[in-house]
Amino acid sequence: MRMYDIIEKKRDGNELSYEEISFFINGYCRNEIPDYQAAALLMAIFLRGMNERETAQLTEAMANSGDKVDLSPISGIKVDKHSTGGVGDKTTLILAPIVAACGVPVAKMSGRGLGHTGGTIDKLESIPGFRTGLTRDEFIGNVKEIGLAIAGQTGNLVPADKKLYALRDVTATVNNISLIASSIMSKKIASGADAIVLDVKTGSGAFMKTLEDSIALAEAMVKIGSSLGKKTVAVITDMDVPLGNAVGNSLEVMEAIDTLKGIGPEDLQTVSFALAAKMLKLAGMGSEQYCSDRIREVISNGSALKKFTEMIERQGGDPRVVNDHSLFDRACFSYEFISPQDGFIQSIQTDQLGVAAMVLGTGRETKDSGIDFSAGIVLSKKTGCRVAKGDLLATLYTNREEKIKEAVRILHHSFKFVETAPQSRPLILAYIDKDTINLS
Ligand code: URA
Repeated sequence: MRMYDIIEKKRDGNELSYEEISFFINGYCRNEIPDYQAAALLMAIFLRGMNERETAQLTEAMANSGDKVDLSPISGIKVDKHSTGGVGDKTTLILAPIVAACGVPVAKMSGRGLGHTGGTIDKLESIPGFRTGLTRDEFIGNVKEIGLAIAGQTGNLVPADKKLYALRDVTATVNNISLIASSIMSKKIASGADAIVLDVKTGSGAFMKTLEDSIALAEAMVKIGSSLGKKTVAVITDMDVPLGNAVGNSLEVMEAIDTLKGIGPEDLQTVSFALAAKMLKLAGMGSEQYCSDRIREVISNGSALKKFTEMIERQGGDPRVVNDHSLFDRACFSYEFISPQDGFIQSIQTDQLGVAAMVLGTGRETKDSGIDFSAGIVLSKKTGCRVAKGDLLATLYTNREEKIKEAVRILHHSFKFVETAPQSRPLILAYIDKDTINLS
């Protein structure tokens, strides 16, 4: 088999066989296929597309390219959740302890921030002492003992994606549904769960800006999961506005703790509880209504918060942060961003708000640079709110005073005002499983 022929076949719009797809993935991982040929095939896939079978087989070949996590020592149905990424998206910190408190084990591997979006691992590391680099035995052992562990990806999980993602990033081939879906799903498949809930974000702060594209991505991922034997459902959720009020690592952990106490922002609570209910349902816990009732119960009786506290303790963190937010690092500087006019907030360019938070220190400037856990933005007003000139819109936090000016400039461009109240849109826009799409 020759890579040249595979490129030519896809360039001319033909289907690739499983053998051809595997030849490409295996050869590329072994460095037998050079970047220029891999890039040519990626561009051919980008332009010509892949059908359902090809996309599932690409995912399978990628998932098989490295280690796989074996969760079989943990009894019960293990359900994973994946978000396609957003601004202020801290749902994992809320739903993982909720699901565990309901008696369903959560063995969750999470990632770091990517572009303008934050990552669960960075957020958890803002808790003093918290370790996300667990050994395999610690990870499995914690789930067996307390029902919950969240760790960074270890070992050689899906090396094909690491190489391909880096290549896509520099060859303008990121934004293709088959390539995104196989990239995400190969990591989920290799992570070992029995069932998967996908939170596909849509809107200005998301990877997929339109509902149509988000549904197409969700459908592709649900089909991949189902064809590879994993029960998979997707929820399309709004990311046209940040989720909750806090954006930034320790700020988001504090907001997640509040939500576990039942005093978090309503939008964050709605989305987190809806995703948790889907996870419980996939785990076989009962009807959606029963699962929702259980979620409210573990919030009101404090057992979800207790589970989160136990996880912090087990992973070396200081559990006192749950009741004493002053134990988190505090930013040296803060700045009040004020409304320049009267009116209603029509929209917030949410990816730009994520960029402003990064400028303040929430994200990495280079692959290896550190992040400022205390940096970020807390919104006082969001899309749809009526504001008067001089009202506080957001508070900025940073340890780099010189960065405030740039962040404020970005925020000024991100907020759009109108004279009459804009139409609101639902937080949950659609539910998708292998047979149906239910629009809200
Ligand atoms: N996230 C991923 O893991 N892969 C993509 O291709 C896009 C988003």
